[in-house]
Amino acid sequence: LSNAQYNFKDYIRVIPDFPQPGIRFKDITTLLKDGGAYRAAIEEIRAAVEKLNIDVIAGPEARGFVVGAPLATALGVGFAPIRKSGKLPGETITASYDLEYGKDQLAMHKDAIEPGQRVLIADDLLATGGTIATSINLVRQLGGEIVGAAFLIELGYLNGREKLEGIDVFSLMTYN
Ligand code: PRP
Ligand code: MG
Repeated sequence: LSNAQYNFKDYIRVIPDFPQPGIRFKDITTLLKDGGAYRAAIEEIRAAVEKLNIDVIAGPEARGFVVGAPLATALGVGFAPIRKSGKLPGETITASYDLEYGKDQLAMHKDAIEPGQRVLIADDLLATGGTIATSINLVRQLGGEIVGAAFLIELGYLNGREKLEGIDVFSLMTYN
């Protein structure tokens, strides 16, 4: 299929009541396992963000890696992993955040980003925006300039976009 022929939502599996009653989990593994759809999804995001003159992609583990890393190689820029606390071996900075369900802490290596670099944050899903807001906080602590945020999926009804005011946001799919 050519890029335009993909209806990406056809590749997302919606699982009711996971991980908690009332949550309709958007499972991206059904997209990832289809080589053509996965490549087309990354290519569509690449084309949308190319104009932003990105120096580096930052992405939060784990699902942010499967979007951010292929996007970085497609753009020919580096990738800075944002990890849950205690995983990165070098000197780190950390920030706490609330999730749609639960609470956690994210970390980045202090040398992951050079001051002034133009950074795009990539993740699979924009829900409440807690993860992305914390990721932005970390990148800004390191002196990076946030030039955009890109997602496979945006849950419009959780209003995560309100935490991204002034930032260019691209979502391949939106659920309302
Ligand atoms: C999920 C998802 C996003 C985040 C979105 O990650 O991959 O990163 O939640 O929710 P938010 O906008 O409300 O913050 P999760 O923390 O479940 O971890 P994972 O990526 O390691 O599966
Ligand atoms: Mg995640």
